[in-house]
Amino acid sequence: MKAVIPAAGFGTRFLPATKAQPKEMLPVFDKPTIQYVIEEAVASGIDDILIVTGKNKRSIEDHFDKSFELEYTLKQAGKTKYLKQVQDITDLADICYIRQKEQKGLGDAIYCAKKHVGDEPFAVMLGDTITKGKTPCTKQLIDIYNKYEASAISLERVPQEKVERYGIIKGVEIEQDVYQIDELVEKPPVNEAPSNLAIMGRYVLTPDIFDKIKETGAGVGGEIQLTDALAKLDKIYGNTFEGKTYDIGNRLEWLKTSIEFAMDDEESKNDLINYMKEIICLLYTSPSPRDRSVSR
Ligand code: G1P
Repeated sequence: MKAVIPAAGFGTRFLPATKAQPKEMLPVFDKPTIQYVIEEAVASGIDDILIVTGKNKRSIEDHFDKSFELEYTLKQAGKTKYLKQVQDITDLADICYIRQKEQKGLGDAIYCAKKHVGDEPFAVMLGDTITKGKTPCTKQLIDIYNKYEASAISLERVPQEKVERYGIIKGVEIEQDVYQIDELVEKPPVNEAPSNLAIMGRYVLTPDIFDKIKETGAGVGGEIQLTDALAKLDKIYGNTFEGKTYDIGNRLEWLKTSIEFAMDDEESKNDLINYMKEIICLLYTSPSPRDRSVSR
């Protein structure tokens, strides 16, 4: 199976950090976000990846490209650990790129992949969303696709106040964590949302989605929405992912994710915990903000 990673957005929720660099390249702890996404694809058995890019996205290509100069310098300096990390990135998967010429929405970005994908089912993995779970999120969707022979998307329950940020579905739970979907709405106002089950950035789609996108006009925000095209499919299933999803497109979620991932790193964990204890302690005991700087 092939995967398509749309990474052409402006990253407006994360300005000014994303003015001249793609949000997909913002590091979460020690790796750019999009590297986690590609690692999930590979862990799900996918090794042919198309990234849909736009302006200011050259650094994504550079990151996955071979860097002879850097490798040579690391080799000469005997920095073998870093050399291996750099080489591993290049060997991860076959990656192709296509540019979305105009920012016409997620549906349009996926349509750019039509030729590359051909007449096969394919995965869509949003480049600003990271998932963590025992079985990779995309692999869980591939399993549902294989069982029901229909498109499948990942879902998560979100608090009421967040429903208007997501695509929301209505469906019937037909087995544990699997929903047969009969309604999809992109970013509904909270009082019109059919549930609080949100689309979380991973999809396995049948190729007829391309015809449905073609028939789809501009929706919310004047953009061609993938959710509106999904609503036109005859059959579609949802899976409440057994694991955790991180939407790093906004700065607070990005920061929380970075902290959580640093906690998984044995070398950093204790230092980080001590640092956090220190700042929290200072916050509650120091009289003025000036006294709240922490020793390093
Ligand atoms: C997109 C999709 C939306 C989905 C969300 C997940 O919205 O259109 O249906 O719920 O990703 O992050 P965006 O975040 O690009 O506005």
